[in-house]
Amino acid sequence: MAILTIQTKPYEDQKPGTSGLRKKTKVFMQPNYVANFAQATFNTFPDMQGSIVVLGGDGRFYNDRAIQVIIKIAAANGVGRIIVGRDGVLSTPAASLLIRKNEAAGGIILSASHNPAGPDEDFGIKVNASNGGPAMPADTDRLFEACKTIDSYLISDAPDVDISRLHEAVIENMAVQVVDSVEDYAIAMQDLFDFDGIKSYIKSSGLRMKFDAMNAVTGPYARKIFVDLLELPEDCLMNAVPKDDFGGLHPEPMPSVNTVLVEMAKGPAGLDFAAACDGDGDRNMILGRDIFVSPCDSLAVLAANYFTVPAYKDGLNGVARTIATSAAADTVAKDLRIPCYETPVGWKFFGNLLDAGMVTLCGEESFGTGADYIREKDGLFAVLFWLNIIAARQMPVKDIVTQHWMKYGRNYYCRHDYVGLPKEVGDEIMALAREKVAGLAGQELSPGYVVQKADDFAYTDPVDNSVAANQGIRIIFENRARIVFRLSGTGSVGATLRVYLEEVVIDHDRLDLEVGDVVAGLAKIVQDIALINQKTGRTKPDTVV
Ligand code: G1P
Ligand code: ZN
Repeated sequence: MAILTIQTKPYEDQKPGTSGLRKKTKVFMQPNYVANFAQATFNTFPDMQGSIVVLGGDGRFYNDRAIQVIIKIAAANGVGRIIVGRDGVLSTPAASLLIRKNEAAGGIILSASHNPAGPDEDFGIKVNASNGGPAMPADTDRLFEACKTIDSYLISDAPDVDISRLHEAVIENMAVQVVDSVEDYAIAMQDLFDFDGIKSYIKSSGLRMKFDAMNAVTGPYARKIFVDLLELPEDCLMNAVPKDDFGGLHPEPMPSVNTVLVEMAKGPAGLDFAAACDGDGDRNMILGRDIFVSPCDSLAVLAANYFTVPAYKDGLNGVARTIATSAAADTVAKDLRIPCYETPVGWKFFGNLLDAGMVTLCGEESFGTGADYIREKDGLFAVLFWLNIIAARQMPVKDIVTQHWMKYGRNYYCRHDYVGLPKEVGDEIMALAREKVAGLAGQELSPGYVVQKADDFAYTDPVDNSVAANQGIRIIFENRARIVFRLSGTGSVGATLRVYLEEVVIDHDRLDLEVGDVVAGLAKIVQDIALINQKTGRTKPDTVV
């Protein structure tokens, strides 16, 4: 075995976005592309030398090749021990858990989340820090700089490591520990939730449930938890054998994608409970019979029912949501007399609050929910939290949600996306909105809609006082309605404008309306302010979520 120094040339396009480096798989398959990024990672995070690093991915096409390259580069760069999920597979939350549990210096996660997989689809690499959460922007900026200047990398010439069985190997001076991808995660879930209570409720009620793993990473996790531990029948699982192209599915859990599951939960014979997770297991969708629980409502309901879960029965320290997420959780936090923090979009902004013990639960509108035991969102965590609530309250999902609305009001909420705009058009609309909101406070924009506060959201992190400016333009009305404008940070082509609309209804007779009808007045205000139709030449949003 020897360490080789390989000369290389930088790629200019290795700038990590909100969720790491995400590109077409073929881009990653270019010579030295993964090697350059891996070497730049070890250059940027020198603490990884002599320490533990966790490595795994969502099992998509090219996962196996990239894993071997990273193992050999890690060995050549003096990593002490690399913990790899069997077959190179770890869900994003399981990777976060392993980083924390093993006090690793960080982790490398191979995933493009819910993007389709395969040679002609997407691949991704994300670097996580020692707290188990995504690396912060200052660090990913340094990583990008390292990528742009790289001229060589170190790699061991050792043969590929067998990662198909649980064992330990040594490459150069580095231990390679192949671990069960599911075991530690399943233990962590049993520490949080009342598995006995859920199990006996499932038996006594005959709860009919399905979980759709969408041929992606959560299949084995779901089998262990739902079938082995909770003793649900095998057929509660759908698409539970991971495939490297996700069987052609687009594993993004949302009603418009999981239409089959939505149909199965409809009508008198519908399922009692149904759920799905995304490609790397960090997102979730929750359905009950004849109801889809919006992610914003889900966060609020989980917070309000904290007392049903053993790990949280003594109370929550606080909750956090992103600016793009409805304020339903704020109402619960106020009632529970705990703080609720509003952060910019992106899970990483929850990291400091969680590290400081200021919040226990957090969530975002894009089907992400999580808590303080790790630093990533966690799809199966949300599913188990719901099962725990259903079992403890012995109530169908729809009743739990309806009672919640009756107590706290319903935050009708939706997102309008204008996709693939020329970048200048996106910037122009944002500039116009920014200019217009400057003087809006106190004005009545339509009858009953008096602006309480309007600004360009700048977030001061309460832990380290760092400031993230220009995180979205928000207009908050005295009647608690809200409008937020922002440009997506994850799109790859042009600009995607996202407009979030929210209206709070307290009246018990108006809790069952169409969201679109309720927010129509706000949508009109949006056009008056930002002239979106006029500037984009479109007559309506491309998608309404
Ligand atoms: C989107 C979601 C956001 C999420 C991010 C990464 O970002 O809106 O909530 O954190 O993906 O999964 P956006 O495209 O809006 O910047
Ligand atoms: Zn994901």
